[in-house]
Amino acid sequence: MKGIILAGGTGTRLRPMTNIINKHLLPVGKYPMIHYAIRKMAEAGITQLMLVTGKQSAGLYTEYIGSGKPWGVQVNYGIQDEAGGIAHALGIGESFVRPGEKLMVLLGDNLFEDSLKQAADEFQRQKGGAHVFLKKVPDPERYGVAELVDGRIVRIVEKPENSPSHYAVTGIYLYDSNVFDVIRSLKPSMRGELEITDVNNVYAAAGQLGYSMLSGWWTDAGTHRSLMEAGVRLMGREEP
Ligand code: DAU
Repeated sequence: MKGIILAGGTGTRLRPMTNIINKHLLPVGKYPMIHYAIRKMAEAGITQLMLVTGKQSAGLYTEYIGSGKPWGVQVNYGIQDEAGGIAHALGIGESFVRPGEKLMVLLGDNLFEDSLKQAADEFQRQKGGAHVFLKKVPDPERYGVAELVDGRIVRIVEKPENSPSHYAVTGIYLYDSNVFDVIRSLKPSMRGELEITDVNNVYAAAGQLGYSMLSGWWTDAGTHRSLMEAGVRLMGREEP
C-alpha cells in the first residue's frame, strides 16, 4: 500500500502565520505538524510515501524530512501549483500509484491517536472500494458529515447547515487506484475546488464506501484554537 500526505492549501484560517510559512510546518508540541502524519503512515506499515505540498515552503519540507530515513520510510514529493482542492492535490499522486495498488491518504492537518495499522491491513485484503474514518463531534457543520442509514454511509455532506448526523468524516482515507478515474470525472464545486467529499460520494453511491469509528482523540489543526489544543495534547511527547 502507498501513502499520500496532502499538505498544500492556503491555510487561510491560520493567518497571519501562514502568510509566511505553510500550515503543516507550524509547531505542534515539539515537532512541525507534518511530522505526525509521517509517523502515522510508518506506524501503519506504509513505507512508500508521497508528500504533496504547495510551492510555499517546499524547501523547508525537504530540509526537515529529507528522504524520510529518520522515520524508516521513503518520501517522494509532489507540488500542487495552486490550491485546487483536496481531490486536486490527491490527483497529483496518480503517477506514484500503480494500477491495482491501494493507498492511504492523510490530510496533513489531521492529528489523532488511533493506529491505522489494522484498518490498513484489512483494506489491503479487501477487493476494492474506499474506506473513511468517522468521529463523533459537537460541531459537525465544520466538516464533511456522514449520513448513516441502517449502519451504512448513504452520502456525505460537506459543511452542512443542517447536519444529517454528528459524525465528522476525518481526513483519513483508504482508496483503491480507481480513485484517480473518479477525480478525473469531478467538476469544481461552488468554491471552485475539486472536493474529496465528491470523491467519497461516488464510492458511497456505488455501495463501495466502508467506514470505521476512531476511538481515540482526533483534531483538525486548521484553526488557531484547534492548533493550540493539538499542541497541548502532544506537548512533551518524544517521538522515536
Ligand atoms: O479535517 C477533516 C475535513 O477536511 C473533512 O471533514 C472535510 O470533508 C474536508 O473537506 C476537509 O475540510 P477542511 O475545510 O478542513 O479542508 P482544508 O481546506 O482545511 O484542507 C485540509 C487539508 O488538505 C490541509 O491539511 C491541506 C490539504 N489541502 C487542501 C486544499 C484545499 C491540499 O493539500 N490542497 C488543497 O488545495
